Amino acid sequence: MPIGVHLICGLPVVTRQRARVVPLASGDVVEIGFGSGLNLPHYDRANVRSLIGINPDDGLPHLARRAIARQDLPAELLVESAEAMSLSSGVADTVVVTYSLCSIPDVLSALAEAHRILRPHGRLLFCEHGLSPKAHIARLQHWCNAPWRALAAGCHLDRDTGSLIRLAGFEMERYDIYDLGFGTRILGTHHVGVARKR
Ligand SMILES: C[S@@+](CC[C@H](N)C(=O)[O-])C[C@H]1O[C@@H](n2cnc3c(N)ncnc32)[C@H](O)[C@@H]1O
Repeated sequence: MPIGVHLICGLPVVTRQRARVVPLASGDVVEIGFGSGLNLPHYDRANVRSLIGINPDDGLPHLARRAIARQDLPAELLVESAEAMSLSSGVADTVVVTYSLCSIPDVLSALAEAHRILRPHGRLLFCEHGLSPKAHIARLQHWCNAPWRALAAGCHLDRDTGSLIRLAGFEMERYDIYDLGFGTRILGTHHVGVARKR
């Protein structure tokens, strides 16, 4: 399953979505749900001072460490959960999360942790699939959620990403919801944007 996730997350259509926000990261960056490190090539070397990836041991840390070793970024991996990070408060300028808010079990705790580790006015950059604004698709997402979660390592189809981010104490600076439009709307509705710590 982890290798399957790595392959799907590396598809060109997915790569194009992450490229919309990851290059905006700056300063000291923490990426939660680091996975196999597929965002590494998208960081702007001129603007990122340091990068810490956070991920529990899901079988991918060896891929993540290999990806880090191949890069020219000062980066490290902490094998731990985003809901309870060992990082001190106020250490990050940017928190990045891509395709992980769907599968982190206690997503509100993870977002509260992201808020805690950010410096005042720090930014959360996100690129996620989630709840469709269209009622008939949202209904389908709710129906399919339980079997999908069982098949796809706990991934939720119907998380309302923007509401969860706001609830955790962020305000949106930029927030786009769009559909990838190739017939997979239950999985293709994207929530992509930049939120600032209130
Ligand atoms: C679909 S993958 C996405 C990986 C990567 N962010 C990307 O864009 O390719 C979801 C990732 O979230 C991670 N994850 C699941 N639960 C987590 C948690 N509690 N804290 C941090 N990461 C978690 C999984 O291990 C997996 O690596």
